[in-house]
Amino acid sequence: MEQKNSDTGNQKTVTLLMGSPRRNGSTHFLLKEAERALRDQGIATQVIFLDELTIHDCRGCHQCKTENNSRCIVQDDMQQVYRMMESSCGLVIAAPVYFGYVPAMTKAWLDRLVPYIGMDLSPRFSGHYPVSFIFVQNMPDPTLFETALRSFAGGVAMTGMSVRDIMIATDCEKGVKPPVSERPELTEKAYAIGMNLPG
Ligand SMILES: Cc1cc2nc3c(=O)[nH]c(=O)nc-3n(C[C@H](O)[C@H](O)[C@H](O)COP(=O)(O)O)c2cc1C
Repeated sequence: MEQKNSDTGNQKTVTLLMGSPRRNGSTHFLLKEAERALRDQGIATQVIFLDELTIHDCRGCHQCKTENNSRCIVQDDMQQVYRMMESSCGLVIAAPVYFGYVPAMTKAWLDRLVPYIGMDLSPRFSGHYPVSFIFVQNMPDPTLFETALRSFAGGVAMTGMSVRDIMIATDCEKGVKPPVSERPELTEKAYAIGMNLPG
C-alpha cells in the first residue's frame, strides 16, 4: 500500500484501489491518470494494490451483523483496507475485465464489504463517500460486459457509497494494441474521473 501527501494533517485523501494484478498495465496507467487529476486539485492519494494483500473470502458468518459488533472478524489485510477507506473521502476503483467480470481478488474485496451492509440490506458506510470505476477490457464493444460491471458497481453502492462515474475502456491489450498512453480519449476520460470525484 502506498501513501502520498498523507503526512499533511487534515488534508483530504482519496483511496485508489488497483484491481489488476498486472503492474504498469493499461488499468494501472488509467488509474494513475485519475490520481494525477486528484493531486492537481491538491488532494492526497493512497493506493491499495490488491495483489500485494492477503484478503480471504467472506465466510458468510454474519459476525459483523451481531448486536455488539459491526466489524469483520477475519483478521487479514482487509482490516487495513477498511481503515484506509474509512479515513479517506472517496474511492476510485480500477479493474480489468476477466471473463466478463472483475478479477477474483477484486471480487473478494467486494465480498468483504458485507460489514457495510445491514442484514436488512441497509447501507452502513457512513457519510458522503463518492466512488468511481475504471474498467478495462480487450473487446471493442463497451456493452458486452456492461451489465456485469454495473452490477459490481451496484454491489459497492449497496454500502452507501455514492457512485459518481463509470468508465469502460475498450480495445486495451498491452503489447498487442496501441498503448493507452497514446489514446487521449481514454487518458482524458480517466483524468476527468479524478477531477470529477470530489464534486
Ligand atoms: C484471465 C483473463 C481474462 C480476460 N477476460 C477478458 C474478457 O472477458 N473480456 C475482455 O474484453 N478482455 C478480457 N481479458 C483482457 C483484459 O481485460 C485486457 O487485456 C486488459 O487490458 C488488461 O488490463 P491490464 O493491462 O491492466 O492487465 C482478459 C485477460 C485475462 C488475463
